[in-house]
Amino acid sequence: MPIHTPLCDLFGIEHPVLLAPMAGVSGGALAAEVSRAGGLGLIGGGYGDADWLERQFDVAGDAKVGAGFITWSLARRSHLLDLALDLAPAALMLSFGDFRPFLPRIRCKESKLIVQVQTLDQAREALDAGVDAIVAQGTEAGGHGGARATMPFVPAVVDIANDIPVIAAGGIANGHGLAAALALGASGVLCGTAFFASDESLASDNAKQAVVTGSGDNTERSAVFDLARGRDWPPDWKLRTMRNAFTRQWSADIDGLTRNLAAEQARFEVAQVADDSDVAAVIVGEAADLVWFREPAQTTLHRMISQAENHLRHISQLIEPMQRIEVMRKFKGSRLCGTFSFEVSDALGQVFRRAISSPSRRTLASNTSRSD
Ligand SMILES: Cc1cc2nc3c(=O)[nH]c(=O)nc-3n(C[C@H](O)[C@H](O)[C@H](O)COP(=O)(O)O)c2cc1C
Repeated sequence: MPIHTPLCDLFGIEHPVLLAPMAGVSGGALAAEVSRAGGLGLIGGGYGDADWLERQFDVAGDAKVGAGFITWSLARRSHLLDLALDLAPAALMLSFGDFRPFLPRIRCKESKLIVQVQTLDQAREALDAGVDAIVAQGTEAGGHGGARATMPFVPAVVDIANDIPVIAAGGIANGHGLAAALALGASGVLCGTAFFASDESLASDNAKQAVVTGSGDNTERSAVFDLARGRDWPPDWKLRTMRNAFTRQWSADIDGLTRNLAAEQARFEVAQVADDSDVAAVIVGEAADLVWFREPAQTTLHRMISQAENHLRHISQLIEPMQRIEVMRKFKGSRLCGTFSFEVSDALGQVFRRAISSPSRRTLASNTSRSD
């Protein structure tokens, strides 16, 4: 039986896997490929560029895709929200900033609202505002993020989310990660790094190669590339990238980078144009360890699903099957009978069965077994 969760019902998708709206990486082709493979692709609207966004929706064609924006940046170009909503995305994902001023306009349209959070306070705000789904992003994630780790953060958000589907993000790039996220109570996963090196991704050639040959050991969160790109990110969120010559030089010397900013910004721009991944940013997360191939996104997604199904089957076999014991008891000195039942492990079930079938007992019992 395939994995099916409430997230599949919410978006009408086959697999509970969303492509993260990676700015400049998740274009229309990648988003459409993930959606056609049974997940939901989100186009990376990033800081907001109307022409680019329209082009990417054109590229996605008739595939059902969504889009994501960086909220604090969208607040400066808020007309882009109407443009995006007119493109009828299946879902709109907002991250990094206060999304609530946008809520009335989103609620006038059909698109579902997903909000990505990095703290429990942000999660409470999103849930109180009535989002359709919430992404709990751990610090392992590629791109901007906070300080909480995926493993404790996801179940903490699940605990307060009631019926709202929680989507786990950060460090999930194969079937182990998907199975683990479901075990944490998530309804699905949002993956960026896993699809960064896909054939359809807009990442540069050398950046894709750096990820395929790179390791999660070699990533870090810092502010250096935001300074180099002239992006004035709020201090709550830092960018996780591969380490390279640029981060080694500056991440422990932000003051030095600030003093040399004009020259270093020029150096960074040259490196970006030349696709020099030793200076330009390769934006991925700790899951770089798990990205081994440059391949179609569909192959990555289907492998993740079949691995997760196998892991979940295997894990369920680790649990001893349970037995339901039903006992009918006649109360001493009266005509009254009562039945009660309880579940015990297989081994304990044998003991009970022997005990209750003993002719010396004045207890009538039957037992049935079920495997969970
Ligand atoms: C290259 C890249 C760009 C990203 N850009 C954005 C973005 O523009 N907006 C956003 O909400 N999240 C962005 N993210 C973060 C993702 O939404 C998501 O949280 C993250 O990819 C999940 O962790 P993972 O990379 O381990 O899969 C980006 C991630 C990557 C790797």
